[in-house]
Amino acid sequence: MCGIISISSDKPFTSEELLTRLKRLEYRGYDSWGYWNGKKLTKEIGRITISDDKEPVTQAISHTRWATHGGVTQENAHPHRAGKVTIVHNGIIENWREIKKDLEAKGKTFLSETDSEVIVQYLNHEREQGKEIHNIIPAFMNTFKGTFAALIMVDGDENVYAAKRDSPLALGICDGRLILASDIYAFSDITKQAIFFDNDEWAIITPKTYMFYKDGKKLDKQPQTFEWETLEEDKKEYPHFMLKEMHEEPSVNRRLIDSLATDQKESFEKLVSLIKKARKTVFTAAGTAYHASLLGASFLHQCGVNAQAIIASEFENFITIDKDTLVIAVTQSGETMDVIEALKYSKANGATVASIVNVPYSSIERMSSLSLQILAGQEVAVASTKAFTNQASMMLALAQAFGYENGLDALPKKLSGILSLEPELKTLAEELHEQHDLYVLGRKLGYPVAREIALKIKEISYVHAEGMMGGELKHGTIALIEDGVPVISLIYDDDAKMRGSTQEVRARGARVVVIGTTKDADIVIPADSEAEFAILASTVGQLLAYHIALARNCPIDKPRNLAKSVTVL
Ligand code: G6P
Repeated sequence: MCGIISISSDKPFTSEELLTRLKRLEYRGYDSWGYWNGKKLTKEIGRITISDDKEPVTQAISHTRWATHGGVTQENAHPHRAGKVTIVHNGIIENWREIKKDLEAKGKTFLSETDSEVIVQYLNHEREQGKEIHNIIPAFMNTFKGTFAALIMVDGDENVYAAKRDSPLALGICDGRLILASDIYAFSDITKQAIFFDNDEWAIITPKTYMFYKDGKKLDKQPQTFEWETLEEDKKEYPHFMLKEMHEEPSVNRRLIDSLATDQKESFEKLVSLIKKARKTVFTAAGTAYHASLLGASFLHQCGVNAQAIIASEFENFITIDKDTLVIAVTQSGETMDVIEALKYSKANGATVASIVNVPYSSIERMSSLSLQILAGQEVAVASTKAFTNQASMMLALAQAFGYENGLDALPKKLSGILSLEPELKTLAEELHEQHDLYVLGRKLGYPVAREIALKIKEISYVHAEGMMGGELKHGTIALIEDGVPVISLIYDDDAKMRGSTQEVRARGARVVVIGTTKDADIVIPADSEAEFAILASTVGQLLAYHIALARNCPIDKPRNLAKSVTVL
């Protein structure tokens, strides 16, 4: 959430290069953007437009914003500048009100409504008192509460300064330049060497040198080599990344299944033995990854394992954690702040922490004692598709290790078959796209899928959609069913209870669409097990959501108000 980047270079570069790199982080937020290159301050609302400013510079900082404090305005866009100091910030300052009040009492005038401007006004004020920036940064880190990855430039100073607490920050070691960024995508096309900041570290960066500090001591941090495919900037023949990513599902699913028998075999077996050793296993996640976690909990539960899935943002409020608990974070980005907080709480209570991630070297991978990768490759579209399919498949693989019978190996081929249903789903979407409300019903493994399909529809088409347990419908929501209201029913193998719920809405005039395994279903899924049905029906839902959004002319890959990586609480 918010992307930051700086370049410190031997050879001059232009804003065009800086912004091309910043654009690689745009999925982290796209409300506004800006940069400071020592000569020029630019701030704009909306998506990043690559500047034609050819002025050569050797250092710059930039930011792409997902608004938290203060609306989407030019004043609230980063960088923020005070006196000779300029900063960009990702994170949330908790005690900004007190510090702002104090600075206002000292005569400072604020130009924006952001918590971030308080950082720059503080740094500038301290400089005006005659202090050096390298002495001010540790004081800033002691004074400010909350989360931050901040990049700082001072007029007339050739260094870029960086400080981190909880928000992600990495230093890319490139030929003739050093690049600080929120994540490795920003520089993964030109280097495979990076240093990852740990909490409460700060650094001084020049084009060739880096010095890291923590608690008043100099640190000896070494670069590590990372493996990560180069960003797929090209949508190829697809009009949207979301569609391209759905079409990658069969191949990335095969890659995951193969790796669990080869490269990741040892880690996978370790995770299985951690589950066996634990008194209970708790998955924690947010959004789409939570729905995959619900599937995981249900798969394991069916194998006699004590397993639960708890939404990360409510983790502390709904579960007791102790040293016999295994907590498994499920996360595409590996950076979701609610999940990080749930893991900190788990560790503080003695639990063992493992994770299932997509982005390697992410904060959550690094804070886990064991981490498995879902190998979906980079997801560019904000709505998660191929990552969900691989998260759910990882869950299925785990259940298989506990005796759950399933056809994991046949899944990639079946996913290809599902993609060929696209014309039917397009026709259905064209019929449904003008509706204001839509309900998706499921039971057992169909319940998480119902929620996931509804989430996809909400996220990208802005149609109100509710995914719920078929059995719960009669306890309230059925009051909303009237003539023509669309209800999607997920029915595996003629399940009598789901048939019953479906009849109840049909009797009240609902326009019912059955996604099922029997021939009379509107969309027939050739699944041989309930688990297979759950995963394949999710892909059907992704395609349907995509075509509803397309018919409504929505900006599919970057829906309003959302971001792919949510690094604030
Ligand atoms: C955001 C994204 C969702 C994602 C959720 C959890 O809300 O827009 O697509 O499911 O975060 O993200 P994670 O990276 O932890 O899976």
